[in-house]
Amino acid sequence: MQNLEQILTDAQREFSACDTLVDLDQAKSRFLGKSGALTELMKGLGKLDAAERPAAGAAINVIKQGVEQSLQVKRDAILAAEQAQKLASETLDVTLPGRGKAQGSLHPVTLTLQRIEELFHSIGFEVAEGPEIETDFYNFTALNIPQDHPARAMHDTFYVDDQHVLRTHTSPVQVHYMQDRQPPLRIISPGRVYRVDSDATHSPMFHQVEGLWVDEEVSFANLKGVVQDFLQRFFERDDLEVRFRPSFFPFTEPSAEMDMSWNGGWLEIGGCGMVHPNVLGHVGIDAEKYRGFAFGLGVERLAMLRYGVNDLRLFFDNDLRFLRQFS
Ligand code: FA5
Repeated sequence: MQNLEQILTDAQREFSACDTLVDLDQAKSRFLGKSGALTELMKGLGKLDAAERPAAGAAINVIKQGVEQSLQVKRDAILAAEQAQKLASETLDVTLPGRGKAQGSLHPVTLTLQRIEELFHSIGFEVAEGPEIETDFYNFTALNIPQDHPARAMHDTFYVDDQHVLRTHTSPVQVHYMQDRQPPLRIISPGRVYRVDSDATHSPMFHQVEGLWVDEEVSFANLKGVVQDFLQRFFERDDLEVRFRPSFFPFTEPSAEMDMSWNGGWLEIGGCGMVHPNVLGHVGIDAEKYRGFAFGLGVERLAMLRYGVNDLRLFFDNDLRFLRQFS
């Protein structure tokens, strides 16, 4: 009993030396545990005279309360320190620079297609689409290219099976569109086309934009005006000239290749002509009453000229160093 004050002093010293709750629990058990110093004293009370017991018990209780209180004080201090450390480690430095966001960009061919659609839309053309796998009928026969006609050799065709091909041009969309409708008709039809063809200016998959205008009073002069106006606006050059060279397409009569002036020379950019009466006949449009013109432009050719790209294959290599220049 004489050691009571000493026990309190020891407990305070040991508690204050603890840094963690685990250490503190161990220290606690040395005083308040099953065989802790204070517990042992309580057990010893029974050996005292009944007269001494209440005073001794009360004295032990005072010390015990002191031990528990200093235990609580230390526990609170450790919890507060841990909390402070946690908060410090989770601090957000809002002044740090951001990570930046990796922003993609549209492909130059997509940008070109969008520009073409915008320009034609502004003069009243609608956009129509058709399938990339075509039947022989739509890709050839309905366009006045019968089986065994030598003109089939003009297109190096990918055959899917006897009756189906990967379309070699966008002209079959004309047929789909005219089948369900009567003039006046004014559409462009952008899309992918396929040919067995590959070098710096030819790709096995490329894009064309078909144009079609059918009405009672449509002439070759209208065709020239529309194409020239489009190209001048597309390249933003009023002095740009377009040349029409006589040519042959089975589905137009007369037919022409379109060249545009470029760097002192001429560059072929597409084919065109007045829709052949046989094609109108195939889709049930009265060729005596209506006439139409059609043209097909190579989209990659236009993109190459607009962006100064000298090899068409760059468009399809997906090299990010190339593509990033269009963002
Ligand atoms: C045609 O495909 C016709 N359907 C165009 C047409 C439409 C004529 C309507 C009359 C009326 P052509 O085969 O010439 O025509 O192709 C048109 C354009 O596509 C070419 O001038 C060229 O710019 C582009 N082109 C052709 N082959 C390739 C290729 N392998 N890679 C990239 N562009 C090509």
